[in-house]
Amino acid sequence: MSSTKTHVGKYEFENCLMNAAGVCCYDRNELEKMIHSEAGTFVTKSATLNPREGNPQPRYYDTELGCINSMGLPNLGIDYYLEYLLELQERLSERTFFLSMTGLSSEEIHILMKKVLDSGFKGPTELNLSCPNVPGKPQLAYDLQTTEQILSEVFEYFDRPLGIKLPPYFDIVHFDQAAAVFNKFPLTFVNCVNSIGNGLVINDESVVIKPKNGFGGIGGQYIKPTALANVHAFYQRLNPSIQIIGTGGVLTGRDAFEHILCGASMIQIGTSLEKEGTEVFSRVTHELKEIMDEKGYKTLEDFKGKLKYL
Ligand code: SIN
Repeated sequence: MSSTKTHVGKYEFENCLMNAAGVCCYDRNELEKMIHSEAGTFVTKSATLNPREGNPQPRYYDTELGCINSMGLPNLGIDYYLEYLLELQERLSERTFFLSMTGLSSEEIHILMKKVLDSGFKGPTELNLSCPNVPGKPQLAYDLQTTEQILSEVFEYFDRPLGIKLPPYFDIVHFDQAAAVFNKFPLTFVNCVNSIGNGLVINDESVVIKPKNGFGGIGGQYIKPTALANVHAFYQRLNPSIQIIGTGGVLTGRDAFEHILCGASMIQIGTSLEKEGTEVFSRVTHELKEIMDEKGYKTLEDFKGKLKYL
C-alpha cells in the first residue's frame, strides 16, 4: 500500500498535499475546512502586522487554464493567525500547521519575526518574499542583496524553523545566484513558486481585474513548467538540509508526481483548490497513489528528486 506521508524539517505530515497561502486560509472558518480535509496540513494567508483589506475588487478571475489575481494581501493581521495557531497547538497537539507572513518593509519583517518568537508558536514559519500585488512594493526575492541582508538579520535572533516563499526565477544564472544566497542560511525550506507576477488577462477589449489596470499574478496550468523548473533547479543547488515545497499548476495526481520527481517534499495547491474546494485533496491524493501503485513506489522517497535526463 503506497503512502504519501512526508516530512519538512523535523515535522511529519500524513499527506504531502496542502493549500497554497492565499487560498482557503483567510480566517478560522476556512482553516477549519482545511483541517477536516485530506490535506496533510495548512498554511495561513500571509499575515502582515496589521489587518489589511487588500486591493479593490474585482481582484481575482478564473480562466480556463488558471487564474489571475491581484489580491494585495488581504489578511486579518498576525495576531489573529498566531492566536488561532496557538489554540490548535493545544487542541490538535499531534499535528503541525504553517504560519505565513510578510512584511511591507524590513522593519515590519523584524517585528513580525519577533512576535512569532515571543508567541510560543512551535510550527514552521514561511516568510513570503514574493507577493507581486502590492502597488509600489517589489517582489523582494528578486533583489538578492536585500534578501541576503534581511535573512542575515533575521537569523541573528530567529532560532525556529523558517522557510521562504519565492517568486519564479527564469534564468540559470539567477538560480545559481539565488541558491548561493539561500545556502548561507539554516533555512528549513524554500517554497517554489508564487504566481508569475504581473501578467495580463483580457476579455473582449478589457482587462478582467481592477487593481494595477489589470496586471496580476498568474496561477494554474499556465505555470506548471516554470514551477517544476524552479523546484528542480533549487533541488539541484540547495544544501540537502533545505527542503523544497512545490507550488504551481497542480491539478492532478500526475502534476503532484512531477513536482516530487523534481525534488519537492510537500506540494501546495492554490488555483485548483479555489476552483474545486477542499475535495481536491482527496482526488489528487487518490490519483497520486494510483500512479505510485502502478510504478511500484511505496513512499515519496522512492522517486523524490529522481527525475531522469536524456
Ligand atoms: C496577494 O494577496 O496579492 C497574493 C499573495 C502573494 O502572491 O504572495
